[in-house]
Amino acid sequence: MKSSQIPRINKAIFDKDYCSRFDTNEGLAYFRKFSLWFIKQKAKEIYQQLNGTSGKIVEIGSGPGYLLLELSKILPSKYTFYGVDIDEGMLEFAQKHTRRNAEKIRFIRNGSYSLPFKDNSVSMVISENSMHHWDQLNEMLKEILRILTPGGTIIIFDFDSESKWYAFTVSIISHLLWMRKIAYKSFGKYFYTYYVSLLRAYSKKELSVALNDIACSTYEMETKRMTLKLRITKPSISAPN
Ligand SMILES: C[S@@+](CC[C@H](N)C(=O)[O-])C[C@H]1O[C@@H](n2cnc3c(N)ncnc32)[C@H](O)[C@@H]1O
Repeated sequence: MKSSQIPRINKAIFDKDYCSRFDTNEGLAYFRKFSLWFIKQKAKEIYQQLNGTSGKIVEIGSGPGYLLLELSKILPSKYTFYGVDIDEGMLEFAQKHTRRNAEKIRFIRNGSYSLPFKDNSVSMVISENSMHHWDQLNEMLKEILRILTPGGTIIIFDFDSESKWYAFTVSIISHLLWMRKIAYKSFGKYFYTYYVSLLRAYSKKELSVALNDIACSTYEMETKRMTLKLRITKPSISAPN
């Protein structure tokens, strides 16, 4: 099935049951360690892009909260972190994971394309592997730019649907799904969820069109293995002459 044929619905495909399976399933524990390693690398990249020492950092689609937890460990204590997610089960799960840093990290349930933050009030907006769920991409990008302070940065990580790693992973998973009996026994739901997510990834061209539509030109895209990093800077307000 082509990615364009998969309806992009604004509905989380993670649920509480699935989250706890991800955390407790022995087989998946290895995969979890592997993904946590990537999350740590992403936290370091985000850290390098920050130019202030305090402010609000908002993650859209914060899921289990691992990235915010990692950032709250490495960033100066003057930052406050907000995780926004559509899924209640995910938020409960995230709260459980981050309880040791609970005074620094807050979670908000929101799945609409209207973010509960004032204009120009957020130092940085980040997102990891959530953009492929956003059916109203332009609306979400506009909202993110609205809440971001001038000069602030947005970093969005998602899948690079044009990379060889992506094609390889899609083909491996589709084969595993084909061997349903074996795959479904323990990893089936996980693989299927991941597979659908992969197929929903926006291409670089679709992203460029969306950014062009909302009159945003201050962005760059970088790819590494299967990851696409979209970095947008909100222009600073220039002083009147
Ligand atoms: C694949 S998970 C990624 C979670 C986390 N960022 C990570 O990398 O571990 C995608 C997350 O995006 C959330 N999500 C999907 N659409 C959303 C929306 N419109 N607004 C907020 N969160 C959304 C889902 O509920 C889910 O938790």
